[in-house]
Amino acid sequence: MELGKHERDILKGRKGEGMKKALEILIILAEIHNAKRLIPITSAQISGVSYKTIGDAGLEFLKDMAEAEIKVNTPTTLNPAGVDFTSELKFPEDFVEKQREIIDTYTKMGVLPSCTCTPYYAGNLPRMGDHIAWAESSAVIYANSVLGAMTNRESALSALSAALVGKVPDYGLHMKENRAPTLLVEVEYPIISEADYAALGYHIGQNYEGIPYFRIRKKPRAEDLKTLGAALATGQVSMFHYHNITPEASYYHIDKIEKVELGQKEVSEAYEKLNSTEDVDIIAVGCPHAGISEILDVIKADPKREVWVFTSKNLKELFRDRIDNENIKLIADTCMVVSPLEKMGIKSIGVNSAKAAFYSMNLSNLKVKFDSLENLLRD
Ligand code: F3S
Repeated sequence: MELGKHERDILKGRKGEGMKKALEILIILAEIHNAKRLIPITSAQISGVSYKTIGDAGLEFLKDMAEAEIKVNTPTTLNPAGVDFTSELKFPEDFVEKQREIIDTYTKMGVLPSCTCTPYYAGNLPRMGDHIAWAESSAVIYANSVLGAMTNRESALSALSAALVGKVPDYGLHMKENRAPTLLVEVEYPIISEADYAALGYHIGQNYEGIPYFRIRKKPRAEDLKTLGAALATGQVSMFHYHNITPEASYYHIDKIEKVELGQKEVSEAYEKLNSTEDVDIIAVGCPHAGISEILDVIKADPKREVWVFTSKNLKELFRDRIDNENIKLIADTCMVVSPLEKMGIKSIGVNSAKAAFYSMNLSNLKVKFDSLENLLRD
């Protein structure tokens, strides 16, 4: 494997033990995937932030890394944590303390505590063709598909290692030849709402691997692409193309690839799998974190029941004095899945995201009603 002087110095221990460990992790990854070299990255996005998902073992590991006094070598943002420290919501106190320690530890390593899964709404916006090292499956698929940046689905550990070294192994979606569509998806069903996009993505994500190419008559909003991608990424999909919409879709001939036609049956089945209750304690939107239009949609709907909107801290700040409906709670830095909702008296939630429905049921053991925001607010 080709290594430059900088990497050879790291391996000799000249940049400290933590840095050496990070590079060794990248080299193992490169060997597993037959990568011939490491390539520079323009940004990293690190997952493994909520105390709910990494626990004490993860916190101890991070503290060991931070004690080695290492600093990231590239602009690096952070996924949602389990707490909004500025919220009126009552997060469990012991959880809050552990969460603070985790964020402090990342910050010590030079990571920006953005705490959002939509880093592209918060200043970490890669350009087309940029190589990046992002963890967080919904951000990875958005970056590859909608932004045209190039990243594999990194783990928390490999994204942190790449951020420290400033490079990633060159394999998978970093190589142009691996970004071609492998499945043409024709949709013979009127896709109407954001939840329809999510149900469709969930069906494909759970049943296919590879890179789907969607040919759908409807022109999606950017937020629909975010929702579709997050749902696809509940399985193994890390990139998709959307006819006439996503930037690399026109590069490929799609006549010869496998084709699947989807109709009402598949979409309805996805809705059934993502629903386990009719009555909910709260409605939770913002998976992935809500953008400006989605926050405006909630404000415009003027909800008569409680809606928790999860978003990035910059958008929470932007809307701070612009919401006069007390049922709308704007919450930053965390989300309905990685916050300890189940320990805060919440037993059931209404969501318009397939990813939120899937993980709320399987990780948090909540009852879920999955539908469009419009329908959730109507019931
Ligand atoms: Fe983001 Fe949480 Fe959904 S991290 S993608 S809002 S599960």
